[in-house]
Amino acid sequence: MQFEEYLRLKKLVDDHILYFLPEIDHNSYTISEAMAYSLNAGGKKLRPVLLLAACNFCGGDEKLALPYACAIEYIHTYSLIHDDLPAMDNDDLRRGNPTNHKVFGEAVAILAGDGLLTSAFEAMNKDMLLYLDNVEKLKRRVRAIYEISKGAGCRGMIAGQIADIEAQNKECTKELLDYIHLNKTAALIKAAVRAGAHLGGADKEVLQHLDEYAENIGLAFQIMDDILDYNGDEEQTGKKTGSDKANNKTTYPCRYGLQESYNKIRELTENAKRSMELYNDDAEFFFKLADELAERIK
Ligand code: IPE
Ligand code: IPE
Ligand code: MG
Ligand code: MG
Ligand code: MG
Repeated sequence: MQFEEYLRLKKLVDDHILYFLPEIDHNSYTISEAMAYSLNAGGKKLRPVLLLAACNFCGGDEKLALPYACAIEYIHTYSLIHDDLPAMDNDDLRRGNPTNHKVFGEAVAILAGDGLLTSAFEAMNKDMLLYLDNVEKLKRRVRAIYEISKGAGCRGMIAGQIADIEAQNKECTKELLDYIHLNKTAALIKAAVRAGAHLGGADKEVLQHLDEYAENIGLAFQIMDDILDYNGDEEQTGKKTGSDKANNKTTYPCRYGLQESYNKIRELTENAKRSMELYNDDAEFFFKLADELAERIK
């Protein structure tokens, strides 16, 4: 994503990514090292950028949303560390670097994931403590944290990950494939946008439009991820290609073919943009992002 506003928000996230982690005493140094290793390895920072953009769009202050933006990146990064483990997708390369367990070993990688997940909630709750005397501001934050817990949990990303694992080596229906993609990937993307919208003080209508937008780009995002695994460039994606095939996963390109997968991405991208068309130029960030995601090569 190369447009100015995306890069500006990404830099804000990159500059603060370690800032909201708890201070860890030297006896547990390995865990902070392993967590920082994956957080500093790069990545597009899509979810935190979306959270900040949605907050701004709804009239909020991006700086005040930063703990939530970084927290959602901690959750996303934990999900990648665990997703790469031998018991899951068994991948060696992530963000252009050896995967966490390849560097630190499986036990530390599991704990680094656990550490990132719990630190996310510690960071958000620590921020909430600042607003105990301001019920309106506190309410926005309670709503944001609820969205993030729901999207990351057993009705969201974890539901998708378990279905993904159980569908391996099996016939996977179209409905199940969409269920997997909507949950393992779109749910956290949706949570990012909804949390940002709550922090910015969105009303129900805006929330609904942003929700539709996020669900559409979220599904398109995972279809493109499948395509890049199928025919992408390792240098660009920073991940080993062919992982899905090696794990016998049903993906969009293997089920529908490449052309139809691209068509589906185009259709979802148009749906996403339509959800926000009411806002014209004010929603420019969201139009641009949808278009760039539909063309991404990494
Ligand atoms: C990879 O996510 C995992 C999926 C949900 C497809 P990203 O493609 O956003 O990974 P990074 O954060 O840029 O490394
Ligand atoms: C993973 O989907 C989604 C997560 C919740 C981590 P994939 O397994 O396709 O993601 P990559 O290709 O390893 O990044
Ligand atoms: Mg996976
Ligand atoms: Mg994977
Ligand atoms: Mg993939």
